Amino acid sequence: MFSFETQIAELAEQTGHWTKTEALSLLTTPPDPSCGDWSLPCFTLAKKLRKAPKTIAEELAAKFAAPQGFEKTEALNGYWNFYADKKTMIETVLGGIKEKGLKFGFAQPKNKTVVIDYSSPNIGKELAFHHLRSTMLGNCLAKIHKANGYRVERVNHLGDWGTQFGKLIVVYLRENLPTDEQTLSGLTVKELNKLYASFSKISKEEPELESQARDAFAKLEKGDEFYRRLWAAFKEATLKELVRIYKIMGVDFDHYTGESFFEDKIPAVVEELEKKNLLVNSQERDVVLLEELDLPPCLIKKSDGSTLYATRDLAAALYRKKEFDFDKCLYVVDNGQALHFKQVFAVLGKMGYEWSKDCEHIPFGLILHKTEEGKWEKGKTRAGTASLLRDVIEAASAKILDVINEKNPELESKEEIATKIGTGAIVFNDLKNRRLMDVKFDWDAALSFEGATGPYVQNAHVRLCSILRKSGKSTFELAFKSEELSGQSSYDLIKALSRKGEKINAACENREPYILAQYSLELAEAAHRFIHNNRVLGSPEEDSRLFLVYCTQQALESVLDLLGIAPIREM
Ligand code: ARG
Repeated sequence: MFSFETQIAELAEQTGHWTKTEALSLLTTPPDPSCGDWSLPCFTLAKKLRKAPKTIAEELAAKFAAPQGFEKTEALNGYWNFYADKKTMIETVLGGIKEKGLKFGFAQPKNKTVVIDYSSPNIGKELAFHHLRSTMLGNCLAKIHKANGYRVERVNHLGDWGTQFGKLIVVYLRENLPTDEQTLSGLTVKELNKLYASFSKISKEEPELESQARDAFAKLEKGDEFYRRLWAAFKEATLKELVRIYKIMGVDFDHYTGESFFEDKIPAVVEELEKKNLLVNSQERDVVLLEELDLPPCLIKKSDGSTLYATRDLAAALYRKKEFDFDKCLYVVDNGQALHFKQVFAVLGKMGYEWSKDCEHIPFGLILHKTEEGKWEKGKTRAGTASLLRDVIEAASAKILDVINEKNPELESKEEIATKIGTGAIVFNDLKNRRLMDVKFDWDAALSFEGATGPYVQNAHVRLCSILRKSGKSTFELAFKSEELSGQSSYDLIKALSRKGEKINAACENREPYILAQYSLELAEAAHRFIHNNRVLGSPEEDSRLFLVYCTQQALESVLDLLGIAPIREM
């Protein structure tokens, strides 16, 4: 298939200054469209050619004719700028979408595997609002890696092992709760949440509860059958609710390999550390020293023999490498755990695993709530503030349902649609900025149909769907004439469509879903403008315009899906 980028890369190679791959990675989009559609910076050549970048660009533009599919090339301030031929642009983009549909802009398979560890909540608790971040960032990263040609293994590294289970067991038994099979299988995560709360409360007055919890976990780890039954029931209760929420959010995993999964793989790790002379005993614990890297020691084993979070992460990394032979292993976990991952990756490096450099922590910022005084702060459970993810989803959906009831009360399956818009709004609000930035969560702003919001993008998609529906035509039969689509707002929209692959690639390689979220806004805006400026149905150019509507709908549907937002057709 024709590709503008390839044409430029081939010409770049002919000049003798770049390889095709180098040129492709250097190509940029000029921020000002009057400077062309693509631009090749010549700055890196200055040293080699002993000339100013400005002169190099000018000489290249004078010497080489524009490649096929381009109207012209020009030099400007050290950039070699390329202007696409309009007709070729229209035919390439619309022809491409006709052929590939939703998959337009997706890359060829790369034969590389990426493991993505995301969501990974702690068992025994309900999903809090802040769990949204790892869940939705990871979900989006998984989707865009797939679209960009990678094999993806989606892993939920559940926190289903550790002292917190000792705590639950201690309060459960202390409160004399029934332990028959039926009661245990009927446990809910709500009840577990209450148990946690009472543990925190009681342990303030009776600090010895903490050591009881540690002992209980040690007993659990040693295989006590009764404790294992309790643990399994706690895990089951949490998973049920977890899966229900994942379903609403449209989130999926290939593997639920939580921390407990690595239990039987840990002795081998400890042994290996010993054999490699990395384990030292310090303050009654076995640790790996990381002084030379300016890091505190990584704790491997406590004096009572119980293992730690880091030990389980070491076992998990080794297992993933063996099982999936990954090229990259991404950990989508909040910034607060940065040190933990530095330590784990450093230990892997000291063990001699060169692939430790392929393990990457993908950190992100906090979710902030607005206080009554209008200040932004880290969300703690406060009266009137929904702090559980399911409450936030429900409240958002209810607010959207109010709007639908007011504007379009006859809409079929309106509850379902309201949930999709409400959930999508929350997700969009989460993804629209660089991941390291804190997310400001403001109900009115996030749920608005105006501005940089999920509902705004959904609305553009709905408008396109509605035009297609009203036309009564099958998009397969539509033929377009490029000269009918060369007006400013049509052509701007087509150019925006042409960027889809480039945006997916950038979002993927930078691990930044916001690039795609911003792109969806760009598409939605260009679509609204096109519809505003061009009558589609009943115009002499109906078929051509309708085909552009179809192409835009396909692009928006696909981008929404990549973001993890359910595209809706009516609202
Ligand atoms: N369960 C942990 C938590 O909630 C996150 C786990 C992240 N993944 C990992 N491999 N450590 O803080």
